[in-house]
Amino acid sequence: METPVDAPMKDEHESPKWKKSIVVFVLGGPGSGKGTQCANIVKQFGYTHFSAGDLLRSEIKSGSEFGAMIQSLISQGRIVPSVITVKLLCKAMEESGNDKFLIDGFPRNEENRIEFENVAKIEPAFVLFFDCPEEELERRILNRNQGREDDNIETVKKRFKVFVDSTLPVVGYYESKGKLRKINAAKPSEEVFEAVKDLFASET
Ligand code: ADP
Ligand code: C5P
Ligand code: MG
Repeated sequence: METPVDAPMKDEHESPKWKKSIVVFVLGGPGSGKGTQCANIVKQFGYTHFSAGDLLRSEIKSGSEFGAMIQSLISQGRIVPSVITVKLLCKAMEESGNDKFLIDGFPRNEENRIEFENVAKIEPAFVLFFDCPEEELERRILNRNQGREDDNIETVKKRFKVFVDSTLPVVGYYESKGKLRKINAAKPSEEVFEAVKDLFASET
């Protein structure tokens, strides 16, 4: 069985390697291609990719005491308490052995952002933002076919609302700090990756 999410972290004073990591947050509406493009970036630029949503879904499968609560929130398109998500992210970074991370689908709201800042004490190098109109996002999600119980029209509408109400303010925060890198994600995947490649080549 996996270590539960509330297991004690390593002594903070040890300052493990991941605490000095390069972190790039990857944001965008549901279905904007975050997972697809992160897989491309990993192959070409040596990052380790963590999707906050994937970590939460595996926490449900691991039989965690928080599983039922996480499942219920995901099925309603709501955001899981940050303390849970940030612990999962920090544990994943610590165990990875790498020091360059793409963190996708995070921070989803201001609470996520502040909890990560306080616990990981890492500022993102920059924030990649995949910009795509809602009609296209809806088409992609309803065709995704990964058996996700939140990929239905009713939950998708709720996720769009959460994105606008809670995630766009975080996007605005990073924009005001000069950290936002916006990419047009409405194009075919290969074209989006061309823009992503140019960006990573110039940033790193
Ligand atoms: P996210 O992680 O942002 O929710 P995904 O990478 O899972 O998005 O992509 C959502 C769906 O859209 C998947 O079925 C994927 O294959 C498809 N997709 C991804 N990028 C594009 C694109 N640029 N054009 C068309 N479909 C795409
Ligand atoms: O990013 P993804 O589409 O995989 O996220 C699926 C769901 O996981 C979200 O709708 C939300 O319920 C949950 N989630 C969360 N906090 C995050 C990322 C995802 O609560 N930072
Ligand atoms: Mg994804």
